[in-house]
Amino acid sequence: MGKIADMYYMVNPWIVSEKGFEKSRSEVSESIFSLANEYMGIRGYFEEGYSGETLIGSYFNGVYENSPKENHVKYKGIVARSHFMVNAVDWLYTRIWCDNTPLDLANAEIDNFERHLDLRTGILIRSFHWKPNKETKVKLIFKRMLNMEEVTQGYQTISIEALEGEANLTILMGVDFNMLHKGEGQNFWQEQVKSANHDSATMIAETITTKQKIYAGFSIVASKSLDTRIVERDKFIGLKFNVKLKESEVFSVERKATMIVNKTGINEENLNQTGSQALKSQVSFNIVFERNRKYWENVWSKEDIQIEGDTRNQQGIRYCIFQLHQTYHGQDPNHNIGAKGLTGEAYGGLAFWDTETCCLPFYLLTNLAAAKNLLEFRYYTLSQAKERAKQLDCEGACYPIATLNGHEACDLWQHASLQFQPSTGVAYGIWHYVNVSHDKEFLYSHGIEVLIEISRFLVSRGAWSANGEFGFFGVMGPDEFQMMVNHNAYTNYMAKRTLEYTIEVLEEMKAIDRTNFHSALEKCGLLEKEYQSWQVCAEKMVVLKDENGLIEQHDGFFKLPQLDIHSIPIDEFPLYDHWSYDRIYRNNMIKQPDVLMFLFLYNQSFGLAEKQVNYEFYEPKTIHESSLSPSIHSILASELGKDQEAYQFFEFATRMDLDNFNRNTREGLHTTSIASAWMNIVYGFGGVRTDGKELMLSPTIPEKWESYTFKITYQERLIQVTVDRKAVKISLLRGDTIKVQIYHEVKEITNIPLVIDTRK
Ligand code: BGC
Repeated sequence: MGKIADMYYMVNPWIVSEKGFEKSRSEVSESIFSLANEYMGIRGYFEEGYSGETLIGSYFNGVYENSPKENHVKYKGIVARSHFMVNAVDWLYTRIWCDNTPLDLANAEIDNFERHLDLRTGILIRSFHWKPNKETKVKLIFKRMLNMEEVTQGYQTISIEALEGEANLTILMGVDFNMLHKGEGQNFWQEQVKSANHDSATMIAETITTKQKIYAGFSIVASKSLDTRIVERDKFIGLKFNVKLKESEVFSVERKATMIVNKTGINEENLNQTGSQALKSQVSFNIVFERNRKYWENVWSKEDIQIEGDTRNQQGIRYCIFQLHQTYHGQDPNHNIGAKGLTGEAYGGLAFWDTETCCLPFYLLTNLAAAKNLLEFRYYTLSQAKERAKQLDCEGACYPIATLNGHEACDLWQHASLQFQPSTGVAYGIWHYVNVSHDKEFLYSHGIEVLIEISRFLVSRGAWSANGEFGFFGVMGPDEFQMMVNHNAYTNYMAKRTLEYTIEVLEEMKAIDRTNFHSALEKCGLLEKEYQSWQVCAEKMVVLKDENGLIEQHDGFFKLPQLDIHSIPIDEFPLYDHWSYDRIYRNNMIKQPDVLMFLFLYNQSFGLAEKQVNYEFYEPKTIHESSLSPSIHSILASELGKDQEAYQFFEFATRMDLDNFNRNTREGLHTTSIASAWMNIVYGFGGVRTDGKELMLSPTIPEKWESYTFKITYQERLIQVTVDRKAVKISLLRGDTIKVQIYHEVKEITNIPLVIDTRK
């Protein structure tokens, strides 16, 4: 796969550290040391300013701007204007001068540089010694954290010690809305109001076209009394002060910051009042640090994966869980999970089908309420999906390839108009969620409406061929190297399952919950005979398959020119950068799992022989140009007993970003693919399946590991699974006795742990 680790950070089970500062890695480290609490995220940039390569990134979930430029292609159905998560406010803004020399790590004389991110508390600490001139040396320690519970709050402390000589310091601390959105090369904020007094400063700014407001305010408390001056510039307000330190004297200052997002057009005055009250009631850094520690303790007690005998992957998987939790934990159904989380501008901060197919399982098994909220997001954006279907001359609802606000943000027509895996992915997500949770209340009130509208879309977008078969023509499946194909197996199969499930739910409701049944029909303007007619589309849906169960990825795939992917020189990856765009469509090379993807999603619907024949055919043709791809292969390889291959695919899953395998971590973390890293262990090695009637487990253990332990919450039970080379131990930590399938045999899990031999 041509992926090579760039090992740089210190290996430790709970801490990610950098010792010594490497300028060439500054942007990668900014991504790695990102903090977030779902509400907002902040890259690990140097708050004191840095004239080297940097992406000063501060993002708020769901705060976006429209693209300044309209798509020049105006054909109907092609998205006219895209949107993206906008870089917002530098609320950590600091500048430090010592005897008039500005601190800038791009050219300062420094040593003893260290940076640590502690996954048990979420605190980021950076320290170094700085020699601003011959006589003076100071030690600086910067700490920052986000409040995980009072999510509008951020904290910073700076401590400065005069190690050698006296230090005449000048410090400026402010809030700055002059953030350059790097991808667009411009700033998207206009100042509304600002004010300051001796120890606090606040500002409200608004996005130019979407008119979303952010209140950003801070107050400071220092170890010495300060004589502050207010500094005002356009979109900036700050407090400046001087501090004189005698040798070995220490100065410290703590900043409490409040950032409040308003998307609903509240006036500045009210927002200012709310913000100022919130700022005043903010408690100290130390109190919040202690609360965050408890918060994370609780998270780890439910979500941790322990690996014995492999500290690199131990650190890797904890880092993944930490970042995933930071990005999203179900705080607000208006939030979703951007492909890069809240850590960078790549992919515009937009959410993809990744949410339902790759991220949802993590939440289904660790935080069911969050899983539900992800589906509520799709319910709340149903009207936008209906609008999109109309633009495509279809009925019902077509969910966007990429979005923040429910509207399609992808202006590449070949994706936005031809790929329907977000729609079938949403239907799959609802099915999967209900299968695990049995939450019929959600299904009958919200879920069914979404299912009806997606089904309607599918039936209107699909078509009948002359020989009486139903399917999709002129589409692109998850394998984006095959455009405008007919009968893409993924699209057809997922659509078939969507239609069948929608009909099944409607029939079930008709039998047991007539009130909700009628209200769903009424809301959607659906007649019984309309939905019953979908049955025949499902029945006649084409999934091309040979006598051995080998599924043809699309009509004609088997006849495509063969390409030996191993003949592609390593320096031609990523292919999008090195091959003309149309060249990738001229052969049978695959970008990411397509047939294998639905064999994974509806895993229980396929026999082992069928999985084997398809895996063996498609795996050698797949180049894994999407970071979502290897984990899915690894999970299937594990199931097929190809343990070494499974481990090879897994090798870079947990450390995709820590070891910068794709050499693009500087743009932001691969947040949705780190969710796959979790699946890779739990579904892959743990053999967990959640698409059957019962929870299923078929654990194996990688050769290099002594043991691993994971916890899952399933139907209100907290279950812990420990696998070592000899035995699998399943303990019920909370909840009542439950039946689960282990190695395909039904067993009862009681409060006495169940121990069985590990499958070799
Ligand atoms: C993949 C898509 C995915 C997107 C965001 C693309 O490279 O092909 O399947 O949704 O990245 O992760």
